[in-house]
Parts: sequence; C-alpha cells; structure tokens
Amino acid sequence: MGALVKTVNLTKVYPNGVRANDAINISVEEGKIVGIIGPNGAGKTTLIRQILGLLRPTEGRIEILGEDISKRPGIIRDNIGYCPQGILYFPSLTVKETVEFALKFKGLKKEELSQKIDKVLR
Ligand SMILES: Nc1ncnc2c1ncn2[C@@H]1O[C@H](COP(=O)(O)OP(=O)(O)O)[C@@H](O)[C@H]1O
Ligand SMILES: [Mg+2]
Repeated sequence: MGALVKTVNLTKVYPNGVRANDAINISVEEGKIVGIIGPNGAGKTTLIRQILGLLRPTEGRIEILGEDISKRPGIIRDNIGYCPQGILYFPSLTVKETVEFALKFKGLKKEELSQKIDKVLR
C-alpha cells in the first residue's frame, strides 16, 4: 500500500494559459496532518480539486493508496472526505435530516442508519 495521497509532477495549466500548479510532488503518509499554505492564487484550491478528481491534471498524476485516480476514480470517493471552507447545508432540513443526508452519502445502509444518526446527534 502506498501513501494515502501522493502527487507526481502534478501540473495544471488552465485553458487561458494560467499555470496554477507546476510539477508538485507531495506525499501524505498515514497518521500525518499536512497543511498547504500560500497566498491567494498560489494554486491551493486547484490542487485540492485535482485530488478530489474534479479537475484533470495537465501533466503528472495522483495516487491514493498507491492507485492512480485516473484509472480508478472510485478510490477517491471511498477514501476522501472533503470539508469545504464555506458551510454547506440546506436550511430547509432539520439537524437530524442533515445528518441522515450526510450518512446516506457515506453509503450507510438503512439498518445502520438510525443507530448512527442517534450516535452523531448525541
Ligand atoms: N477556472 C480557472 N480558469 C483559469 N484560471 C484559473 C481558474 N481557477 C483558478 N485559476 C487561476 O489559477 C491560479 C491558482 O488559483 P487557485 O487554485 O484558486 O489558488 P488558491 O486557492 O491558492 O487561491 C490563480 O492564478 C487563478 O487565477
Ligand atoms: Mg483557494
């Protein structure tokens, strides 16, 4: 098994010619907490969007647990949880419904759901 997340010469050039990231090599090992810092426009969001599979690399590749995400995109959804900067919720849902919504995304089965919802709410 490889690193949790590894980028190899990861590069993104947008269609307008902006080179948002350029040959980035990072490796995040199990149990490590990594911060990515940089001024506005440094390419942080681009990098995260690439790791999430929302933007294709112009060059280079990304591996999750040793698997190339372009060959097995499912490895992203099985292993990555993304908590965005802004609060993302639907005001029309109750707290309980919001938790249920999130747990269903995680693929919890009906039987497991009510117990897990109670646990989270507690
Ligand atoms: N969709 C896009 N098309 C063209 N250029 C973009 C796009 N998104 C971001 N950029 C440019 O790429 C660079 C990196 O942006 P971004 O990844 O948002 O940086 P950060 O999150 O570190 O502020 C910036 O110069 C930005 O203007
Ligand atoms: Mg950003």
